[in-house]
Amino acid sequence: MDAVVTAGKGGLQVFTLEGAEHAYRVLIESMNEGALTLTTDKTILYANQCFARMVKCPLEQVTGSSFHRFLSAADRAMLRPWVKRAAKVGSKTQVQLQAGDGSQLPVQISLRSLARKGANHTIIGMVVTDMTAARRTEELLRTLTHRVVQAQEAERRRVALELHDHITQLVCASLVRSQTLANQLSAHGGCLQQEAITLREMLGQTAEEVERISRGLRPSVLDELGLAAVLRDTTKEFAARTGVTLKLTCGELTARLPADTELTLYRILQEALKNVEQHARARHVTVQLTKPDSVVQLVIHDDGIGFDPEHHPARRKGRGGLGLLSMRERAIYSGGALKVKSVCRAGLAKAGTAIEVRIPLGKARAEGGVEH
Ligand SMILES: Nc1ncnc2c1ncn2[C@@H]1O[C@H](COP(=O)(O)OP(=O)(O)OP(=O)(O)O)[C@@H](O)[C@H]1O
Ligand SMILES: [Mg+2]
Repeated sequence: MDAVVTAGKGGLQVFTLEGAEHAYRVLIESMNEGALTLTTDKTILYANQCFARMVKCPLEQVTGSSFHRFLSAADRAMLRPWVKRAAKVGSKTQVQLQAGDGSQLPVQISLRSLARKGANHTIIGMVVTDMTAARRTEELLRTLTHRVVQAQEAERRRVALELHDHITQLVCASLVRSQTLANQLSAHGGCLQQEAITLREMLGQTAEEVERISRGLRPSVLDELGLAAVLRDTTKEFAARTGVTLKLTCGELTARLPADTELTLYRILQEALKNVEQHARARHVTVQLTKPDSVVQLVIHDDGIGFDPEHHPARRKGRGGLGLLSMRERAIYSGGALKVKSVCRAGLAKAGTAIEVRIPLGKARAEGGVEH
């Protein structure tokens, strides 16, 4: 094919494929990626054989047709802004290609404006990369990460039980003995009795600390009373220990949620509060648990210094922290999604960070799948 004619508002437009580009054509034909040129109204002017193979359609039928024809219904609407943007600065996105036989193929498309043809017609260059293998690797990694998380949860539960059943009991027994000792020494008075009292106090603090660590590893209240109860305990303990005021709203949650959803939300809250304590310099935190339709949503908002989620210090130092990553992975594995919205202070009154996680419940969850 030497030329494509398109009918537009301004009449017929003829796009020729110039002969001097032969060397580039050979290069593009030998690529393992789909390569196309399009008009801004998405008519395909040129496509290589690789793209024709991806969409399982003869090349003659691909050239001259609309690119829309090869997109899944869900992705058609979103292509328009991408093409518009590509005409100015270039863009990249992931979509599902719709092949001629009805099958779908996950691909990444990179768009860039190549040349202007008349006043309103920019030629767009597109490279289409098959993401099947990358997606499979991603799924595999996600499954492996989930197994590691499950093993970590089992280990935490075991250590929490050991601490609670053995160490706490031993410490409590020593506490009682040291109290007896302090009472008996009272007859003699002096510094020995004071030592015994100090010992009793230290053992009391140790018992509290062991209890706190054991609760953090796996709070028995989560299994016994559910998410709302553990949120109340955790936020209360956080506010008392850090001095940050915290408002919790979880009135809507009366029934129990699936155990893995409760655990996911609890762990996300735990990481988010750890970040508030370590990084935010916040004075006030709100935690909101709601259940709009068949989704459960947890939002943790602080009024701290905020940060840039794409360029935070840990990432810049090449030491990507695990907190945000593990929160996101846990949310995705539960079929949900996690958003981080943060505004840095720099004189703004409304600075701070919001972590928002949404997890579908019941039927919605079964249909939702993994959101990337
Ligand atoms: N609420 C917050 N306020 C301000 N900065 C935050 C907040 N949450 C996260 N950050 C920034 O984002 C970075 C990454 O957080 P992340 O939890 O992933 O890792 P980390 O806290 O540094 O390490 P880890 O969680 O593995 O102990 C932090 O180092 C911090 O700079
Ligand atoms: Mg962290």
